[in-house]
Amino acid sequence: MTDINTLKTELTGMVEAANDLDALESARVAALGKKGKITGLMAGLGKMAPDERKATGQALNELKNEIATLLERQEKALKKQAMEERLSTERFDVTLPVRPEPAGHIHPISQTVEEMLAIFASMGFEVREGPDIEDDFHNFTALNFPPGHPAREMQDTFFLPEDPTEEGERAKKLLRTHTSAVQIHTMMNEEPPHKIVCFGRTYRSDYDMTHTPMFHQIEGLVIDKQTHMGHLKGCLMDFARTFFDIDDLPVRFRPSFFPFTEPSAEMDIGCSRKDGGLKIGAGDDWLEILGCGMVHPNVLKNCGLDPDEYQGFAFGMGIERVAMLKYGIPDLRTFFESDTRWLNHYGFSPLDRPNRATGEK
Ligand code: PHE
Repeated sequence: MTDINTLKTELTGMVEAANDLDALESARVAALGKKGKITGLMAGLGKMAPDERKATGQALNELKNEIATLLERQEKALKKQAMEERLSTERFDVTLPVRPEPAGHIHPISQTVEEMLAIFASMGFEVREGPDIEDDFHNFTALNFPPGHPAREMQDTFFLPEDPTEEGERAKKLLRTHTSAVQIHTMMNEEPPHKIVCFGRTYRSDYDMTHTPMFHQIEGLVIDKQTHMGHLKGCLMDFARTFFDIDDLPVRFRPSFFPFTEPSAEMDIGCSRKDGGLKIGAGDDWLEILGCGMVHPNVLKNCGLDPDEYQGFAFGMGIERVAMLKYGIPDLRTFFESDTRWLNHYGFSPLDRPNRATGEK
C-alpha cells in the first residue's frame, strides 16, 4: 500500500508539473500507457494471494481513476491557457479597415452607364452591343437615310478605307456616328418583340466645349404589336425622374426630325438658371436631353418586319451630356484628358452604390 501511495504522489506530481499538452501526454503514457506504472502493477495482481489481490486491485483501480480524472482536468486547464494565450497575442482591432482605401476612382462615364442600365434593366430592357466600326448600310441606309440625302450631312462622319471583301454600301466602312446602328443589328438578327438598350462609343468629326470626336450614347428600342407614343413618353419620363432623382421633374416633348423615326421628338427636362448656375428641376427653363420617336415604317421594312404588324419606339441620348448635367461637370473635353486630379474630384468610389434605381439609396 505504501508503494501505491508513493506512486500516487509521484504520478500526481508528474501530471501537475506538465505545463503543456506534450508533457501531459508523456505523463499519461507513463502512468496509464501499455508500459505505464499502473498498468505494470495491475499485471502483477495475478501472482498475489486472493486477499492481497483484492485490496491491491481496488487501490490500483482507485488510483487509475484518480489519475485519469486529474489528467482530464489538467488537459482542460492547459487548453484553456493555450486559448487565452492565443487570444491575447492574436488580438486585432476589428474596426480597422480591411485594406487601404482604394486609390482609383470610377470614371463618371462608367458610373453613369451603370446607373442608366440599372434603371432600364428594372423596366425589363435587355442589353445589346454593336461594333464601333460600322458600314454605311447599318449606320445610314437601313435607318432610312437615302443615298445622297442631306440628312447624312447632319453628322460629320469619319469614313474608313473601303473593305474589298464586301460590296456596295456594306463595303463603305465608317466609325458609327450613333448607336442607332445597333437597332438594325437587333431587328435583323433576332425575333421580335424587342426591348433592348445598348451603349457605347460613337464618333463625329467635331471638337469644342460640348463636342469631342469620340463620345458615348445610350440607345433604346422597343418593338412589338402594341407599343405606342404613350409608352415612349411614360418610359422616358420615368427614366429621367429616376436618373436625376427628382420625383416631380417636368419633362416635355418637342417635335423634331430624325430620318429613322416618325413622329420624332426631343425630350427636354425642366431647369432654372440663376447667377450663372444651372439647377435641374421645376423652373422657368428647359434643357434638351435626348432624341426619340416611333420607329419609321421604312426602318422596320428594311429589317424584314411588317410595319402593319409591328411598331414601337426608339430613343438615343448622349451619356456625357447627361453626366455633365447630373454631376455638374462644366467641360466635355475634360472627360478624356486622363487627368487624375479631375478623376479624383469627379470620379466615384468603387464601393458606392449607383442610385435608387437599384432599390437602395
Ligand atoms: N441617333 C440619334 C442621334 O444620334 C438619337 C435618336 C435615337 C433619335 C433613336 C431617335 C431615336 O442624335
